[in-house]
Order: sequence, then C-alpha cells, then structure tokens
Amino acid sequence: MSSVRFLAYLWRVFFCCCCVRAMPAKIQQEPLNDRPVIGILTQLVSDDVMRPFGRTYIPDSYVTYLESGGSRVMPIRLTLTTAEYENIFWKINGLLLIGGAADLETSDFARVAKIFYKLALEANDAGDFFPIWGTCMGMQLLTVLVAGQNLLTNTTAENVALPLNLTADALTSRMFQNFPKRLLKALAEEPLTGNFHNYGLEVKTFQENQKLHGFFTPLSTNTAENGVHFVSTLEGKKYPFYGVQWHPEVNRFQWDRKLSFPHSPHAVQVSSLLAEFFVNEGRRSLHHFDNPEKEASSLIYMHKPVYTANFTSYEQAYFF
Ligand SMILES: *[C@@H]1O[C@H](CO)[C@@H](O)[C@H](O)[C@H]1NC(C)=O
Ligand SMILES: *[C@@H]1O[C@H](CO)[C@@H](O)[C@H](O)[C@H]1NC(C)=O
Ligand SMILES: *[C@@H]1O[C@H](CO)[C@@H](O)[C@H](O)[C@H]1NC(C)=O
Repeated sequence: MSSVRFLAYLWRVFFCCCCVRAMPAKIQQEPLNDRPVIGILTQLVSDDVMRPFGRTYIPDSYVTYLESGGSRVMPIRLTLTTAEYENIFWKINGLLLIGGAADLETSDFARVAKIFYKLALEANDAGDFFPIWGTCMGMQLLTVLVAGQNLLTNTTAENVALPLNLTADALTSRMFQNFPKRLLKALAEEPLTGNFHNYGLEVKTFQENQKLHGFFTPLSTNTAENGVHFVSTLEGKKYPFYGVQWHPEVNRFQWDRKLSFPHSPHAVQVSSLLAEFFVNEGRRSLHHFDNPEKEASSLIYMHKPVYTANFTSYEQAYFF
C-alpha cells in the first residue's frame, strides 16, 4: 500500500468511526419538514369600505409574516364542509387565527376555528404534532375555545404600542427562550408590541378559571386604558398553541402613519423571531398534500392581493 493510499485508508476508517459514533444522536432527532404549509382562516369582512371586494379577506401582512419564517401559506375559506376541513387538516402543518371583528361563538370564523381546534387537540394527543397560533382576536378565540365560554371584558388598548410586562415563566417559555437576553430586556422596556383591541382576558378572570390556567401559561400581561390588567401573551402547557393579544406582523409589514406600528430594529427582530419560532413548530408536523399539483393549487400564490393602503390600515389584502 503506498503512503497516499494508506492515508486515504486511515481517513476512511476515521471518517466511518465518526459517522457511526455520530449516528445515535441523529436517530433520536425527530424528522423535520422543511416544506411547511401553514393555513390561515380567512376573516369576515366587517368594514364597509372592504365589502365591494369580497365577503372574507386575509391581510397580506400575516401572509408575508409566515413566509418570512420559511413557510408557505394556504388560505382556508369559511364556506367549506366539515369533511373538507378534516381533509385540509391532514395536509397543513399549522394554523394561524388572525385578528378581526367577528362573533367568537356564532360566526363562521368561530365555527371553522373550532373544527380545527378539536382536530388539533386529538392529533396532538395521539402524538401527531400540530401547532396553532392566535393573534389578537385569534388569541381571544383560543381562550373561548379552551374555556368553553366567552370570558372577555373591556380591556381597550386601541392604537398604542406597549412594552410587555413579562412573567417569570417567559424566560423558560418555548416562545421566548431563544430570544437574545438584550432583546428580551428591550421587549420588557420598549414599546415593541402594537395593541389594537377593545376586548381581552383579565388576569383575574384567567386566574379564577381552572380550564384556562390549567391549559395556558401566561407569558406577559399589560394594563388597558381603563386600568384593567389583561393577559397579553399565552403559551399552551401541553399543546403547541400560542396566543398574542398584540400584533407581531405589523412591526414589519404595515406602515399606516396614523397607527402605532413599532418599526425599530428591536421591534423588527421580535417579529422575525416569533415568525421563525412558529414556522419551526410547523416543521415538526409531517402532514402533507397527496401530490404537488394539489398542493400548488391550494397555496396563496394562486391569488392576487389588492392594494388597500388608501382605505384600510393594511398595505395589501387578499379577498375571497
Ligand atoms: C405587571 O405584572 C405584575 C404582576 O403580575 C403586576 O403586579 C403589575 O401591576 C403589572 N404592571 C403593569 C404595568 O401592567
Ligand atoms: C371600554 O372602556 C373604554 C375606557 O374606559 C371606553 O372608552 C370604551 O368605550 C369601552 N369600550 C367598550 C367596547 O365597552
Ligand atoms: C385606492 O387606490 C386605488 C389605486 O390607485 C384606486 O383605484 C382606488 O379607487 C382607491 N380607493 C379609494 C377608496 O380611495
């Protein structure tokens, strides 16, 4: 054996040993899905100026938000049958419930969210990971689904950016544990979270309701204009369900000068990290479409957004 071949032989032995030794750790890792698709339920149009365009809509800011985390988006209409929603559930890797103004018990938005919520509970119980995120009214709806009743009260915080009053649990939470320490400090001290709501869940109500405090860990609270202390960030204890009463998507994707949208570097970073966090949760779901054609025809790319910056607070929106 020449010395060159001997060296090559030694290298192979060394390389193989490394591989073999590295294997067990690799096998223990759960498989990840690098082509996630997150569903967004369309929202009911409640604003007269938007009515000419359709009955339901999705602001582009939520779509771009998820795309920025490395996901694709499937819009989910509110007019399908339960069987059709069940079918969609096995194709997508997570669900985003967006903000808006709809009845949290009787609207189509609430009806469809409940179908997905129940499917997600069952799937997660069976070891089939499926995350749900609720923003603003989406978070309120999650609390209604968990409590089995609407416990919201007036917690008006309209057009105001606030720092989060982080709880001790925030530091070890899944949502914030990978935040740089400096950013977490900024989140607690600088107005990085845009609030646009009249209702919310009082801290007192949360603590008194066994279903709610058994299900969620509060990661932050805030104080409303009327002095009421409300829960502003929630994380499921057992389930990968998350809620924010504020709007992380506006920090990067909405620019209305009349509204308190935080755009500082820290605000942008908070928005980026939470989008990546939720999409990474989606990667843990192995649901998928049966074929690439069906997948392609289900995605948001098939739709064209409308320019809406001159009559809504959204730059663009999709109508359905
Ligand atoms: C922050 O939370 C603490 C503990 O829950 C509470 O006592 C305090 O009033 C809150 N501060 C604000 C500004 O909401
Ligand atoms: C809630 O309270 C605020 C401040 O006290 C008040 O201005 C607002 O009209 C109330 N909103 C609702 C929906 O009751
Ligand atoms: C908004 O701008 C678009 C594009 O310039 C225009 O077609 C539309 O009429 C405007 N809508 C309103 C309500 O001003």
